[in-house]
Amino acid sequence: MKIETIDFEIKGDERGSLIAIEDKKDIPFDIKRVYYIYNTKKNTSRGFHAHKKLRQVAICLKGSCKFVLDDGNEKNSIILNDPSIGLVINEMVWREMYDFSKDCVLMVLASDYYDESDYIRDHEEFLKLGEKT
Ligand code: TYD
Repeated sequence: MKIETIDFEIKGDERGSLIAIEDKKDIPFDIKRVYYIYNTKKNTSRGFHAHKKLRQVAICLKGSCKFVLDDGNEKNSIILNDPSIGLVINEMVWREMYDFSKDCVLMVLASDYYDESDYIRDHEEFLKLGEKT
């Protein structure tokens, strides 16, 4: 599958860098929720789910981590290590995250509130649901 990223404009000057993210202008959906993952323990992987409707953009603010995305047909991976890059994770995409650096701070912008019923946590079920759409 094609990995889609967003390059945020860096408003840098001699003092350093600044990135502003505005709803709908910089992100292809209304942002209803922001969460971040940090202090991830060594050799820990996360994710292992897809969402039925939720869309997300993941931004690695510090450190690095690896994403493996799977649309049911094809897998692809990307290393996030730059706070000016957003990884778009659309609905019905299985994601797995690996290789978190000790200092990794991964921020995720989401199109909706947390809803456990939107999760697909079983890969077989994900593949079956994807066939119907
Ligand atoms: P989970 O989505 O399983 O983490 P990941 O897929 O990144 O490994 O979420 C871990 C826990 O946090 C789970 O108990 C649900 C809870 N949670 C919330 O309460 N709100 C949220 O916005 C998110 C993303 C998770």
